[in-house]
Amino acid sequence: MKTTPKFYNCLERTKNEIFSLLFQGVKRRKSKFHNVVLNTVSIEKKPEARTVVLRNFCKNELTLNIHSDQRSKKIKEIINDKNVCLVFYDEQKKIQLRVRGEAIVENSKKKSWGKLSNWSRRCYLTLDAPGRLSDNPTSGFPDKFTDIPPSEIESEMGYVNFALIKIFITQIEWLYLASQGHRRALFEVKRNNSKLNVTSKWMIP
Ligand SMILES: Cc1cc2nc3c(=O)[nH]c(=O)nc-3n(C[C@H](O)[C@H](O)[C@H](O)COP(=O)(O)O)c2cc1C
Repeated sequence: MKTTPKFYNCLERTKNEIFSLLFQGVKRRKSKFHNVVLNTVSIEKKPEARTVVLRNFCKNELTLNIHSDQRSKKIKEIINDKNVCLVFYDEQKKIQLRVRGEAIVENSKKKSWGKLSNWSRRCYLTLDAPGRLSDNPTSGFPDKFTDIPPSEIESEMGYVNFALIKIFITQIEWLYLASQGHRRALFEVKRNNSKLNVTSKWMIP
């Protein structure tokens, strides 16, 4: 008979496994939790989704950070409707996470910007806003940065376009696929001022 992981029948261990996966997602580029599908509600009230990189997970606040361009569509959508859902799936681990939350566009973005290399900052140097139609195939940023990164001073021009999205987690839905029987659980976060209370329940998969 196949063995099951320690978290299989334990909500507390499942919660710890989720936290560990989110930390790995931030730290390890190869982790299946590094890229995630961010779902938003469009201005026309339709579902919208795109892949983004998980940049930070704070266990104390239960928040997640994502970087984006201030001029992008998703920013307008988040300002219009803060409700978001992040969907992760690791095929090897057979784990799906659906993280629901409320997103804000964070004002204090200096620290996150400071951690970016000049090479990464190129994305924020496009002259036109992301999503704009173009007559030609283009990266959007000046040609001189195709092979050479911008200087420190040149890269700083991108700061105004850089946006830090912070997501306050409200729910995490866990699904673990196993031949013995799947496991599904719901973790709900209640916020009372700065105090956090997480409740956990099993669900029928
Ligand atoms: C692997 C991968 C990672 C990506 N990471 C980000 C990211 O961290 N932030 C971001 O704004 N866009 C990222 N993108 C691009 C988005 O998927 C999307 O195309 C872009 O942000 C425009 O989205 P919007 O028009 O819905 O705002 C990534 C795309 C891929 C394929």
